[in-house]
Amino acid sequence: MVINKRTAAPPAAPLGFSPDSYFRGVHWHQRWEIFRGIFVPGQNRVDYLCEAAQLPADLSGKRVLDVGAWNGCFSFECERRGAQEVIALSLENPAQTGFDRMKQLLGSKVRYVNGSVYTISPGELGTFDVILFFGVLYHLRYPLLAIDRLRSVSRGEVFIETHVIDQHPWLRGWPEVPEQVIPQGAALQRTPIWRQYAEFELNPGDQSNWFGPNVVAVLEAFQTAGFEIAQTQSWTNRAAFRAKVSTIPARLLQHSYESVSPRMHAYRTRFSMPQGRLYFVAVWLVYSSLAFLIARWNVTSHQHPKDLRLVFAGLAVAAWAGYWFALVGSPYLRPRSVYRHLGLVFLSLAGVFFSTLLWLLLAVKAYSE
Ligand SMILES: C[S@@+](CC[C@H](N)C(=O)[O-])C[C@H]1O[C@@H](n2cnc3c(N)ncnc32)[C@H](O)[C@@H]1O
Repeated sequence: MVINKRTAAPPAAPLGFSPDSYFRGVHWHQRWEIFRGIFVPGQNRVDYLCEAAQLPADLSGKRVLDVGAWNGCFSFECERRGAQEVIALSLENPAQTGFDRMKQLLGSKVRYVNGSVYTISPGELGTFDVILFFGVLYHLRYPLLAIDRLRSVSRGEVFIETHVIDQHPWLRGWPEVPEQVIPQGAALQRTPIWRQYAEFELNPGDQSNWFGPNVVAVLEAFQTAGFEIAQTQSWTNRAAFRAKVSTIPARLLQHSYESVSPRMHAYRTRFSMPQGRLYFVAVWLVYSSLAFLIARWNVTSHQHPKDLRLVFAGLAVAAWAGYWFALVGSPYLRPRSVYRHLGLVFLSLAGVFFSTLLWLLLAVKAYSE
């Protein structure tokens, strides 16, 4: 394949840079020319895949999301192509995958978000002109949900690379029969198929594969989620695609139990983690100020302070409801087990109780003389 020559050239390596010691200690999946003539030593070629999916050489001014970023080389490549902002979303710890290391070395602004494609939302990440979805689809147990989530944050194009089964032996068990020996025919290639894998079935060294789609299954999955999509390349058991945001067919929005509307998903998110923390602090401040003002009013306007237990119980319930509003709406904040739920209920109520006590004491002390 001819590699696109317009892509920004890699810079020269910094003086004294030693690839051997720099790359040691990380499992590198991706191969990328980090500096002129020096490659990140993985197998998955960044230049080849970008070309296969027709990723534009010039991404000036674009907001980019790299889903399943792993080492992060595709994200850094997009930044090199001029992207205005790049978010690398992946499940790994960036300190262990070499991402943090490369970010520092390159002086990069790429932001790493540790999270799943299932929970991305425009409310948290915004929307993107360019989304990379390379080598992720077949690792997902819920591929269609993931594609709906991509649609919810996409305002431009999605570039996709995936394992496909069009040239793959169809039959299970041993020996698998290659297409050349028993031709399974064109009909199967026109029928959208998601072959499910059990454990190590696709790759004896890798248990992380769930579904192998054929090309037409990928096309229809993206079309029914509201994309126009074309296959751009295929080789061995892989294929690349380029999809563009389009309208979701009305029939899919209205007349199906599983509507493709992003709003229908259970994975609704209300707050990101930092927003959620701010929200908690805001609820606490509002609650405390009200508690203080009520206590002050009570002390200054009466000879003998009145029993305010009911008022404070009401306030405590309101504060608790405020916390809960944040929690149930956000998978990042939602407690993951019954014990954590109980722990949180206990902590919040104890917090409300003690801060009430504190404000009461302060108000009584300050205004009772
Ligand atoms: C085979 S690697 C592909 C890495 C990279 N995109 C590439 O092509 O070199 C699969 C990546 O998908 C990510 N992944 C798997 N499930 C995911 C999910 N639910 N949400 C986000 N990323 C996921 C993994 O963390 C891993 O980084």
